[in-house]
Amino acid sequence: TKPAILVARSIFPEVLQKLRRHFEVESNDGDQPLSREQLISKLQGKAGAFTTGGERIDAGLLKACPQLRICANMAVGFNNFDLPAMTAAKVLGTNTPDVLTETTADFGFALLMATARRMTESEHFLRAGQWKKWAYDMFAGAEVHGSTLGILGMGRIGQGIARRGAHGFGMKVIYHNRSRLAPQLEKECGATYVGKEQLLREADHLVLVLPYSKESHHAIGAAELAQMKPTATLVNIARGGIVDDAALAKALREKRIAAAGLDVFEGEPQVHPDLLTVPNVVLTPHIASATIKTRLAMANLAADNLVAFLTQGRPLTPLNPEALG
Ligand code: GLV
Ligand code: GLV
Repeated sequence: TKPAILVARSIFPEVLQKLRRHFEVESNDGDQPLSREQLISKLQGKAGAFTTGGERIDAGLLKACPQLRICANMAVGFNNFDLPAMTAAKVLGTNTPDVLTETTADFGFALLMATARRMTESEHFLRAGQWKKWAYDMFAGAEVHGSTLGILGMGRIGQGIARRGAHGFGMKVIYHNRSRLAPQLEKECGATYVGKEQLLREADHLVLVLPYSKESHHAIGAAELAQMKPTATLVNIARGGIVDDAALAKALREKRIAAAGLDVFEGEPQVHPDLLTVPNVVLTPHIASATIKTRLAMANLAADNLVAFLTQGRPLTPLNPEALG
């Protein structure tokens, strides 16, 4: 008999079809996420779960679902997984690295440009019928080409953004990371490793691309925003919670920094109400990896992890291979 799995959210029909060739599949085909109680109840007797980043997998859930052996996240980030608890329960976690790197870097750069050049703010103005005349300073924004690009978190996506900035826009690239890990990139982009304080002080455009963890919680709060240039912009395509959204809304309102572009939010899909009322912020609903091609590649990689692990014991992109030992 085929192993049983749960697909926690609605996904591409062709991916579901592929999964049905290998597994007894229960899928949540509605447009609502499962509550924790529903998730636990539907995971009974399931060996695998296809998750999307919205389902929290922790010790309590694992204890209630003893047959579970793998959770395949359709996301590169995995802060919805309590990985030590999963390892302790001998449950494997997988994510979807690499397939979304360039697509997500494209979006990071798009958000940087939209933020610097005030694209959504000016579009609202036009749509509201407020464009009556020319003005010398109308929606005058910040320069992108030739400016200083700061990157906090130099993983694969950060490197993609650094390349775009250095090669496409002649930007000077500075970065900070827990470890100085990108000598190749330093050569290729003329990127300079700096301390966090220097990064905050010198960046004209600061892009956040670090994973969320207890250590990165509120990595950008009031104190950090106060160190940035008043002309600077901040872009977050990493995770909500890395930025203190209330402090950011205040800094934007007081023009302590010029503007921000946010694709991720604390407590999303809720958005801090103060962010909705400040004009100098570009807001998008967590879509940095959302091209049709990349979302399909992510779904396929998550599915292939389930197939490879549950049929051959060999996951493709394991996060905690030690869970198997
Ligand atoms: C999206 O945020 C992801 O982690 O893939
Ligand atoms: C994610 O893939 C990253 O390393 O930035």
